[in-house]
Amino acid sequence: MTNHPYVIDEMISAKSIAARIEALCRAIHDEFDGTDKLVVVGLLRGSFVFIADLVRELDLPIEVDFLEASSYGDAMESSREVRILKDLRGAIEGRDVLLVEDIVDTGHTLHHVTNLLRSRGPARLKTIALLDKPTRREIDMKADWTGFEIPDEFVVGYGIDFAQRNRNLPFIGKVRFT
Ligand code: IMP
Ligand code: MG
Repeated sequence: MTNHPYVIDEMISAKSIAARIEALCRAIHDEFDGTDKLVVVGLLRGSFVFIADLVRELDLPIEVDFLEASSYGDAMESSREVRILKDLRGAIEGRDVLLVEDIVDTGHTLHHVTNLLRSRGPARLKTIALLDKPTRREIDMKADWTGFEIPDEFVVGYGIDFAQRNRNLPFIGKVRFT
């Protein structure tokens, strides 16, 4: 599949993403106002652009940490088996934590990672996903905040890849095979 020619049709513009992040940050701010120090955890690699824009819009004391979970590999289907490839550097016990995910698709990744983080006893754990494909869900999971609900399309850009390509597009586009 990955060596078939494809084009990318813009689905969500860079401007719409920026506007949505502003609104999301107001809600996050209301939730975590008064926090001692919020640990913002980015799920690698797909969330790296989103987390960069998100934290610069957040007027709160924060730390940033990263976690890498196994994902699709080069396939377009979830493996459903989630493994931790790179763990957090810091402890989160007793801390306020915001987990940042690129897309909630089947829900397996969010389910696995939130269970893992919760087992470490954070004071508060909230989740945010830039994109949500509700029609693809296999596990009943939803992020506390979602940027955009999208239909069942394979998307790239703004950090999100297709077999490691197209992460550097400034917008979200859908893959169309030609
Ligand atoms: P889930 O475990 O099925 O919910 O999958 C979540 C992960 O699959 C996301 O973090 C993405 O890395 C990846 N994923 C899901 N949909 C897409 C897509 O349309 N394009 C690229 N990656 C995707
Ligand atoms: Mg991912």
